Amino acid sequence: MKLWGGRFCEQTDEQADHFHSSLSFDKRLYKQDIKGSMAHAEMLGKQGIIPKSDSDLIVKTLGEILADIESGKLAINNTAEDIHSFAESELIARIGDPGRRLHTGRSRNDQVALDMRMYVKDEIDEICKVLASLLEALLSSAKNHTRTIMPGFTHLQKAQPVTLAHHLLAYFQMFKRDYERLCDCLKRTDEMPLGSGALASTSYPIDRYFIKDKLGFADITANSLDAVSDRDFCIEFVSCLSLIMMHLSRFCEELILWSTDAFDFIEISDAYSTGSSIMPQKKNPDMAELIRGKTGRIYGSLMGLLTMMKGLPLTYNKDMQEDKEAVFDAADTAKSCLSVFCGMLKNLKFKTGNMYKSALGGYTNATDVADWLVKKGLTFREAHEITGKLVLYAIDRQLPINELTLDEIKSLSNVFDKTLYDAISVEACVKARNIPGGSAEDAVLKAIEKAEDFLQKKHFSSHQRGL
Ligand code: ARG
Repeated sequence: MKLWGGRFCEQTDEQADHFHSSLSFDKRLYKQDIKGSMAHAEMLGKQGIIPKSDSDLIVKTLGEILADIESGKLAINNTAEDIHSFAESELIARIGDPGRRLHTGRSRNDQVALDMRMYVKDEIDEICKVLASLLEALLSSAKNHTRTIMPGFTHLQKAQPVTLAHHLLAYFQMFKRDYERLCDCLKRTDEMPLGSGALASTSYPIDRYFIKDKLGFADITANSLDAVSDRDFCIEFVSCLSLIMMHLSRFCEELILWSTDAFDFIEISDAYSTGSSIMPQKKNPDMAELIRGKTGRIYGSLMGLLTMMKGLPLTYNKDMQEDKEAVFDAADTAKSCLSVFCGMLKNLKFKTGNMYKSALGGYTNATDVADWLVKKGLTFREAHEITGKLVLYAIDRQLPINELTLDEIKSLSNVFDKTLYDAISVEACVKARNIPGGSAEDAVLKAIEKAEDFLQKKHFSSHQRGL
């Protein structure tokens, strides 16, 4: 049954009917849709817009429809145009005329905006929870490795020694920003659009604040034209997810590299690896690769949404129905990537001995040789030049700087003395970087404290906002 058949004389073409139907994918909004309708119906009764007895019956029956869908008793079939038509026609089939009053003072345009906002709010909550467990996993791993020395890289070339804790905490910062970004996105999503009608609001004396409170929104939308044609919150949400995926993808890339024979910094657990059908020795980091790969898919959703909205005249246009699959897929994908990644991380074995050995090579202490010379009064440029020559000398002999004799070292500058050796051990290099945000153990311990603080406050603030 069509909700809008009155004005039409001919049947919709069968293919066109199939083409414009969104039920196959928007049926997953059934909970949001029905809860929104229940709040709307209750408000209509309270305001005397429809008889209280009808409103009560609608609310009760919608509750039953919801329960029947959840228990599997009622299947969401594919003859309705969308989830809104499905729920309304099921209501009318069950109670007749009172059901025909539900859509008073409402349009599917503000209804679908409401459903999507409720859905995105729920997803933000879910994703924040998975992000929080990832942050916790990173922090607990970092705590175990404040003294685990590894090479830090630039250009994927060994650069300076750091600790594994410092490296893991770099990711903590990225995912913390992601968490905060989602909380920020929530603020703009948390506005209740019902009352906007098709576009120009409604002439019925509806109570928008009642619905807002009933559905747990922070505020109501401010402009009816904007409210029915705004999908910024979807775009913002998927762009938050894109950044999460970018961070996951970078981390995955490192895990893939680190698990190679060339790096040999980690062993990914069997539970998160796969084998080869022909090469018996293989253990492949498929999960990490797949997460890296799925990043493109979420960027694709973001591009799709941005392009879909570009150039749309106010207000609602059917183009906007295309928001759903992009948002749903991005949310599902990001959630599964985050939780698989979290499991993989918790089960990783760090080969700390290999990390340490690797940090000893590649002249990662060269900056510290130059810094030592600066302490003796040279300018940094002079020190850089001398150290560069020293590195060249050492490369020629295939030795690290520490293994050259003092005479050899002195041949490049008379300023050098034997106290250099202690100052340029990898341990000393790390220890020297004791400033806020630095890689020294003391600095990292302070960073850990702050991170712990953030996780505690985060729980507090999420309780506050009722998540
Ligand atoms: N299925 C539609 C969507 O997702 C619902 C809104 C329909 N409104 C309309 N005027 N055709 O956008």
